[in-house]
Amino acid sequence: MSSLSVMKAVIPAAGQGTRFLPATKSSPKEMLPLVDKPLIQYIAEEAALAGIRNIIVISGRGKRAIEDHFDISYELEETLKQSGKDALLKEIRRISDLARFCYVRQRHMRGLGDAILCAQHLIGDEPFAVMLGDEIIDAGVPAIAQLMEVYDRLRAPIIGVQEVALDEVSQYGIITAKPAGDGLFQVTDLVEKPSPADAPSRLAVIGRYILTPEVFAVLEKTPPGKNQEVQLTDALRTIAKRAPMYAWVIKGKRFDAGDKLGFLKATVEFGLKNPELGERFARYLKQLSI
Ligand code: G1P
Repeated sequence: MSSLSVMKAVIPAAGQGTRFLPATKSSPKEMLPLVDKPLIQYIAEEAALAGIRNIIVISGRGKRAIEDHFDISYELEETLKQSGKDALLKEIRRISDLARFCYVRQRHMRGLGDAILCAQHLIGDEPFAVMLGDEIIDAGVPAIAQLMEVYDRLRAPIIGVQEVALDEVSQYGIITAKPAGDGLFQVTDLVEKPSPADAPSRLAVIGRYILTPEVFAVLEKTPPGKNQEVQLTDALRTIAKRAPMYAWVIKGKRFDAGDKLGFLKATVEFGLKNPELGERFARYLKQLSI
């Protein structure tokens, strides 16, 4: 799976993870382990599977564990080598070989739009992916690769969406859209976290985007919006009003792993799918017979 046009992904990871306190008081939310891998590794693997080899992590204070995770760990590798744990050694090496990682610090917590703006000098004049680490998407074709395929066809910004329940719309960016083919919509407007009464649809932005570099100039002029933060949704709204923008309904099962219940659901489902643990875990769950 690859696309020559999108070669870089931005993963915003500077947030404070308040929905997951106290676990995230001193360790990054992105490092919470889903079965045996930190959340951010699932995102990096999704990007790598889609052929993206440059990953820009928007980092912040208290997030150094992320850099260490994707770095080489000589001591650990030496220990594994000496004790003949070759499979583990291979797995550990694979992590640091996933992509070329760059880290930029977001110094002030000014919102997702501001976080994306921090990557401007590393993106240059090319389309790029944005992948939010809270959303883990289990899909046959990686979610970001689905968007890249649409981008290659339409050469316009593409937003990954899925339908959510009406009582959940206030947790998401919600689009106004016109059907444009199977699973595809043209976006005419967006609103960040509307109340159910104000939501124009139930199509929610679910943390995967292909954006074009014009977004940076727009973000620079976007005033703080919802929660006094510079919202990416507001910048996309400006762009959608003047040029074509599309939404693609991502095929796959999505977990909001930044939320405690969503994380538990993901843990159970990924645990059941795990080749080493799945069967034993299923037996255990049956025996609980809740
Ligand atoms: C962000 C975006 C929102 C999007 C959501 C998806 O919100 O601002 O538009 O729907 O991610 O997870 P956050 O969850 O960071 O508050």
